[in-house]
Amino acid sequence: MQQKKGGRAMAVRILFQPSGRRIKVRQRETVLETIRQNGLEIRAVCGGHGTCGKCKVRVHIKGRPMQNLIREGAVNPLTWNEKKCLTLQERQKNFRLACCLELYQDATVEIPAESRTEQGVIVERGRRARFLLNPRVQSVCVTMSPPSLEDFRSDEERLCEAVACETGRMKEKTCCRYGLLLRLPALLRKCRWRVQAVFLSSGEATEIIDAGPVPETENPELYGMAVDLGTTTIAASLADLSTGRVLARCSCMNGQICCGDDVVSRISHVMMHSDGLRQLADLVRQDIGRLAGDLAEKAGIRAERIYEMIVAGNTVMEHLFLGLDPERIGKSPFVSVLRRPVTLPAGQLGLKVPQFGDVSCLPIEAGFVGADNVAVLLAERLDQQPVRTMVIDIGTNGEIDYGDAEGIWSTSCATGPALEGAEISCGMRAAPGAIERVRIDAATGLPFCRVIGGGKPKGICGSGIIDVIAEFVRCGLIGPDGTFRKETDSPRLRPAGRHSREFVLATAEESGTGKELVITQKDVRAVQLAKGALYAGAVLLIRAGGGKAPERILLAGAFGSYIDKENACRIRMFPLCPGAVIESIGNAASEGALAALFDRDLRDKAGELSRQIRFVEAASQTDFQRLFFEGTMFPDHSKEK
Ligand code: FES
Repeated sequence: MQQKKGGRAMAVRILFQPSGRRIKVRQRETVLETIRQNGLEIRAVCGGHGTCGKCKVRVHIKGRPMQNLIREGAVNPLTWNEKKCLTLQERQKNFRLACCLELYQDATVEIPAESRTEQGVIVERGRRARFLLNPRVQSVCVTMSPPSLEDFRSDEERLCEAVACETGRMKEKTCCRYGLLLRLPALLRKCRWRVQAVFLSSGEATEIIDAGPVPETENPELYGMAVDLGTTTIAASLADLSTGRVLARCSCMNGQICCGDDVVSRISHVMMHSDGLRQLADLVRQDIGRLAGDLAEKAGIRAERIYEMIVAGNTVMEHLFLGLDPERIGKSPFVSVLRRPVTLPAGQLGLKVPQFGDVSCLPIEAGFVGADNVAVLLAERLDQQPVRTMVIDIGTNGEIDYGDAEGIWSTSCATGPALEGAEISCGMRAAPGAIERVRIDAATGLPFCRVIGGGKPKGICGSGIIDVIAEFVRCGLIGPDGTFRKETDSPRLRPAGRHSREFVLATAEESGTGKELVITQKDVRAVQLAKGALYAGAVLLIRAGGGKAPERILLAGAFGSYIDKENACRIRMFPLCPGAVIESIGNAASEGALAALFDRDLRDKAGELSRQIRFVEAASQTDFQRLFFEGTMFPDHSKEK
């Protein structure tokens, strides 16, 4: 803290650029903590552990160089991690890691474009799942007789009996939600005993959750929301429960990203901060609340008419959304707090939408395989497939399902964030400025890149990474073990250190950041680790399911939507399944959640499915290591050159 002459500590103020926000800093708080607490955006792939080097910021205090600032006590000294992650030039330009930096004097902190979280290209939809329109939320218009000395039933009894009589449901099992009881007396009298009652049905039970004037049009205005809660992105859809139509879709980055890019860093955030769980729960609930408002605005409906929300997230995300401690999921034997579906009034989670209705989380399968995977299976009805089918959903964690009407097996594999652009030296999300396609001219060795949104490239995203590695393989620039070949010649291939080489994808002049975009040997290794994990998981599943090769491979999620399937096969991303048809199915988790919203029987089916699926813990299988190693290898395509 800045010291006043009398020795009293003064608050330090930081001006963040380019946002222009001025923020007061608390004592002994890192700049990353300040950024997180004030809703600013920054990449923090490792969750603030100082290891990823993605949270670079530049410090400006009266134009003084960093060594002077450190000597004068205006900032804390460079940490060991900063010395490792920052180049000498970066240090000379006053760059620091936000998670290691403490400021004791007023300063301007610049968050450069490369450190800001880009709004990635989010796949909001998949192909439409099949369902019957049989929602849990329904409504009916009823007329009641007013109370009299002869008829002194309570207001609740009067409404429940009218609803039961009109719908044929059991009146003994019909009741009003407490929140409605608070408003009921005034409401019934104001509406002169004729109301539209909105109720939730489950089994024989009926719970009336809202009532109001009978609508003037035929539209009962019953809406629901389906949320695909991902570690990186959240995609939400608004649906008309009376017609089965999807009215609007919206998405956003998961605000928890400021506490780490992957589920492991989120778990460690919870473990290392006393209020970490509350903080992460608040962040994701705020995001979902904002999405609800955006959806209502986009569709031109009243947000209070959203009566139900279905959430399908991975195991850790569902725990954080529900405010449940995810710590044990991160440690062997990877046990979650619960697996069953959870339905509770939205207000219990502090959500304002649905105002009168429920939030339901789909059931978790096992370990890291969560409800989002169950939603994918619901959308694709793997349990009804006549031919062996494999569904691969690659996110920060890879999830694989394999089976048909005879049975389903599933596993998860630690593909890591490399395939999403993280942990790659010049990696970024699939956002404008990202290289999404790469072709290398085998004759000249020069690369040609296609950039999302056009213009100069700022980095490379997952589909671009697959392309560039496939091109290395095709042109023989790397060998089957992934090492850059010394004997190959390309003007873009150069030595890096004593034993390694690297490939310059874009020179400083060609790139949009003014810095070279380089694919290093370490980057190739990161892709190898991801594909090794995926390959081993898939082979083990096929073996567990009797050894029948799948006839169809379905690629779910954003990554599956954008990759060049031929290039993915070229580098053996998927197990060798000759003749298998490979299809992209987009955001199938979203479609599965929507199907569960429209059809309450499908929701019951989700519970059944999650119990039927046979989970294979891939990493504990005896030959996992051998298969993993086998999966890291590339085929030798150099002869195609
Ligand atoms: S190095 Fe700061 S968040 Fe990773």
